[in-house]
This record gives sequence, structure tokens and C-alpha cells, in this order.
Amino acid sequence: MADSIYSVAGRVALITGGGSGIGREIAKRYAESGATVIVNDIRDVGQQAADEVGGHFIRADLSDMESTRRLAEQSLAIEGRVDILVNNAGYQNIHPVEEFPDETWAEMVQVMLVAPFQLIKYLVPSMKAQGWGRIINMASIHGLVASPYKSAYNSAKHGLVGLTKTVALEVGEFGITVNAICPGYVSTQLVEVQIEDQSKTRGISVDDVTEKVMLEPAAIKRLIDPEEVAALAQFLASDAARSITGSAYSIDAGWVAR
Ligand SMILES: NC(=O)c1ccc[n+]([C@@H]2O[C@H](COP(=O)([O-])OP(=O)(O)OC[C@H]3O[C@@H](n4cnc5c(N)ncnc54)[C@H](O)[C@@H]3O)[C@@H](O)[C@H]2O)c1
Repeated sequence: MADSIYSVAGRVALITGGGSGIGREIAKRYAESGATVIVNDIRDVGQQAADEVGGHFIRADLSDMESTRRLAEQSLAIEGRVDILVNNAGYQNIHPVEEFPDETWAEMVQVMLVAPFQLIKYLVPSMKAQGWGRIINMASIHGLVASPYKSAYNSAKHGLVGLTKTVALEVGEFGITVNAICPGYVSTQLVEVQIEDQSKTRGISVDDVTEKVMLEPAAIKRLIDPEEVAALAQFLASDAARSITGSAYSIDAGWVAR
């Protein structure tokens, strides 16, 4: 596997929100393929994830601009470079627009759009210098289409797809690709919380939220495994994907097909 075109062996990868869910699976997969993994998270689970894969942990709160800038600095200090940046940290909060708390709205955009911009800004120079880099932005089907009660999430994720395309155009000549992954509903803590929130907001049962709301538009009626998203993240980080840039890859069981 080490010399396969799908390998990320020898690369240094920073994964934000790598303490759980999709980010944790990406950390595992990259480490198994021979990368040096740097896990960022706001919670202790980041340390556990880093220990599990023999990687580094940097605690940082991506809702804070100064912490995010320091995360970039500390990551670069480990090996002198970051080859692969996975902007993955995120969370969901569901409210009708007229009830959405201002601070929560702003914080969600900060974590899921402003922090990715900052990390790209501070890490691109080391990628440019070596003529190789991969930036993977974890967007969502809600970076492509909207659902009600998710104004902050949808705005941040649509913005992240726009950021992906823009930066791809700016850095292509330096051997750096920039892509977004747009998952449908993946079986993680984030989705469990969402199911409960939607159940309350809509006044329907948890089962009805999953079957009739979340998976209703999907061609394949099941939650996606985080491992499936991690496999796509490995492909996009590998040399096999060197001509793929500025794309938003759906992995959504057909959710946005209709
Ligand atoms: N689960 C899904 O169905 C789904 C679908 C589409 C997109 N996504 C996106 O995938 C990404 C990962 O989601 P997940 O389902 O694995 O969620 P998760 O909750 O399991 O993991 C997200 C991680 O981000 C961390 N985090 C949250 N706020 C942070 C902050 N301010 N600073 C640093 N870390 C922070 C959390 O501590 C957590 O460990 C998110 O960007 C999410 O929007 C998830």
C-alpha cells in the first residue's frame, strides 16, 4: 500500500475536529496509510484520537481567531510543514431563523467558514514552497442545497464550497488541490444530536425524523458510515487525485440527485 497511488505515506496531515466522528476516521485512515497525523479538537477526545493513531494533538477552539492562527503555527512547528489540511470541525444547531441566537449563528460561521479560511491562509505558503499540497474542506449536502431551520449551517457550508472553488483557482499552479466533500447523513454524534433537535423542533418522533425527514430524498435509505467518508478523503489526498480540484464531491446516498 505504501507505494500505491492512493497512499498518503510520508505526508503530514492536520485534521480539525479530529476527535470524533468523520475526522477521527480520517485520522485513523491517514495514519494507517503512513501519514504523520496532527489531530485538532476543542475536547479531550482529540487527545484520545491522537494517542490511538500515534499522532499529535493540538487543542484549539476554532471559534476564536487567535487560537486558530496559533493552531496553524503549532502545526507547522511539528515537522516544518503541513502537506494535507482537512477542515473538518463543525457542529449543528437548529432554530427557525427568527429565533436563531445571534451569537450562535456567528460562532457557527466562525468555526465552519472563517477558521478554514484562516488555516488555508496560514498553511498554503508551506505547500507552495514544496510544490505539493492537499486541502479538503468538509462541507455537506447543505453546501449544495438547503433545508429549513439550518440557516447558519447552510450558510457556512455554501460559503465553504465557494471558498474551495476560489482557492483552487489561486493555488493550482503550485501543485495544490482544493476540494470539498459533501456528505449526506453520516452516522456520528452530530447527527444523533440533530435527530433529537429536529424531533423537538418539528414535534415528531425520532424515527420519523430519520426516515421521513432526513432520508426521505435519498436513493439509499441508510445513514452513511464515517469510514466511507474517510476513504474518499484518502483518495482526494493521494496522488491519484492530482487532477481533481475545485470540486464538491457528494457522498450522500443520492440525496441531492433529485
Ligand atoms: N455527520 C453528518 O451527517 C455530516 C454530514 C455532512 C457534513 N458533516 C460535516 O462533517 C464534519 C464532521 O462532523 P461529524 O459528524 O464527524 O461531527 P462530530 O460532532 O462527531 O465531530 C466534530 C468534531 O469537531 C469538534 N469541534 C466542534 N467545535 C469545535 C471548535 N470550535 N474547535 C475545534 N473543534 C471543534 C468537536 O469537538 C468534534 O470532535 C462537520 O464539519 C460536519 O458539518 C457531517
